[in-house]
Amino acid sequence: MKLCVALDLPTKQENLDLIHQIKEYDIWLKVGLRAYIRDGVEFLQEIKEINPNFKIFLDLKLYDIPNTMADAAESIMGLGVDMFNIHASAGKRAMQEVMQRLSKYEKRPIVLAVTALTSFNQEEFSAVYESSIAKKADQFAIDANESGLDGVVCSAYESESIKKITNKHFLTLTPGIRPFGEDSGDQQRVADVEFAKSALVDFIVVGRPIYQAQNPAEVVAKILENI
Ligand code: C5P
Repeated sequence: MKLCVALDLPTKQENLDLIHQIKEYDIWLKVGLRAYIRDGVEFLQEIKEINPNFKIFLDLKLYDIPNTMADAAESIMGLGVDMFNIHASAGKRAMQEVMQRLSKYEKRPIVLAVTALTSFNQEEFSAVYESSIAKKADQFAIDANESGLDGVVCSAYESESIKKITNKHFLTLTPGIRPFGEDSGDQQRVADVEFAKSALVDFIVVGRPIYQAQNPAEVVAKILENI
């Protein structure tokens, strides 16, 4: 299991200060829409300058028509990131076109599918997808696997069943982690490191428990000791 730290601080400088504090660790860093839209590719380069061994997960959740998604995926290839994600609800044709477009490159980033956004409650989800969350999330995972993606973003509670209905090598990346039972904030269903390990999660995403800590490096070290 790998640790992926969410760079969700309000300014670029604060994100860079955090990265400097944890630069000696073998970890992934998650760059989301806010940071990428504001700080762009230059920020990605600065991360690699701090430590070239950092792995970068570009969390932009692409969703568009298949050709536009494939074009965007190809542009992402040029950024030198190690993982990015697209929405499974864009459909199998879109996912397949993305993977097809990347197949001509010798080395490509890991591509994950977003299944069901966890911010939806059941009622809101049904209004959009006319299905229960669990059923649709499973179907999205199957679609992503059949379309050649490497894995999905999901809750730690879904990780094991997703591996069962796809295969054990199909990756799961799970946010909503409170490594040692810390305050859950606005997350609904949180899991700790022990649970994530038992659920065979491949990547845990941790934000606030690290960047709001007095000593982020200490928390990172403790998580790495336990995974
Ligand atoms: O601070 P915290 O550890 O809750 O941060 C989790 C990170 O994972 C945030 O960047 C959040 O946007 C992201 N995320 C999430 N739930 C999802 C998808 C992404 O919490 N379903």
